[in-house]
Amino acid sequence: MAGDLTGGHEMKRGRGVLKPDIPQSFGRTFALDVLEGLSQRPKRIDPVYLYDEKGSKLFQQITTLNEYYLTQCEHEILTLHMEEISQSLARQAFNLIELGAGDGRKTVLLIEHLIRKNLDFEYITLDISPESINDLSFMLEEMFPSARLKVTGIIAEYFDGLKWLAERSSSRNLILFLGSNIGNFEYPKAQKFLRHLWDCLKPDDQLLVGFDLKKDFEILNNAYNDSGGITREFHLNLLDRINRELDGDFDREKFLYYSGYDVITGAVESYLVSKERQEVFIRKLNKIFPFEAWEPIHTESSYKYLESEIACLAAETGFQVEKDFFDSRRFFVDSLWRVKKPGSATAPCNVECR
Ligand code: AVJ
Repeated sequence: MAGDLTGGHEMKRGRGVLKPDIPQSFGRTFALDVLEGLSQRPKRIDPVYLYDEKGSKLFQQITTLNEYYLTQCEHEILTLHMEEISQSLARQAFNLIELGAGDGRKTVLLIEHLIRKNLDFEYITLDISPESINDLSFMLEEMFPSARLKVTGIIAEYFDGLKWLAERSSSRNLILFLGSNIGNFEYPKAQKFLRHLWDCLKPDDQLLVGFDLKKDFEILNNAYNDSGGITREFHLNLLDRINRELDGDFDREKFLYYSGYDVITGAVESYLVSKERQEVFIRKLNKIFPFEAWEPIHTESSYKYLESEIACLAAETGFQVEKDFFDSRRFFVDSLWRVKKPGSATAPCNVECR
């Protein structure tokens, strides 16, 4: 890393957790988003709010379920193709920057391999949740001696953190955006997100991004309707969170979790549905929200991709696909992209997009 990132910044438990004093870009708040979302028709709440402390624990549990094949598949991809992935990476020093790392099990796999290959890199994890940044940096610092791996955790929104980094480091970047995290964006939002990412990067920087592929509906539906009811609990926790943080009086017994693949949107759509006509008061919003019987709250869309849609997404946002890495069942893909900017050498693009 060119320059010292730590100067003047708050240091937490680990060797390098930074909370740069960059202003939060229009810090959306839970209260405002719930007010706005529950006032719309259909009612909706942004899935980012599923991840409070309880929700993050439940999600972590989901990733261990047999039915939730996504995590196993990506784990298999990284195991099977690690050698090839590392061979496509920069020979010079680079920053390995992970967006929303989660519990870091896949990260460890990757880091171990890159260290074994003697590649020169630093690991930087970016997240808005101080808990996940602290836990992950702490774990990595325990696992790898400081002489071998430099770990930096940055508590910030993705793009704030990336811009802040870009001003402080001239090294090449490899961005990791794994686990089908991109799947929560509808197609135009995914485009916007990737273009924004492209804006923050230099020519020849790379991105490894994980997509869940379209497949048999039964497999898709089972992944979001696990037999142990963990996913149901993950969504119902949103009502508990509103009760806890906004002093609401949701009765979770009066809601059903419903989730299913929609062939038109191409996403597994998840809802909490009111079983009866009722009114819910949220004290901190000083507002009553009426529900009709069978009225849904849309809580998440998990988009699934065709291979051609992934190729288009890359081409439309200024990236060149270097290689797609699949698991043995072809359920999931980690796609390795390279940033192309005017002036940087471009291979001819033969992707046809609408
Ligand atoms: C973390 C967004 C990839 O959509 O599959 C898991 C979240 N929701 N089970 C997904 C989730 C229900 C997950 N992502």
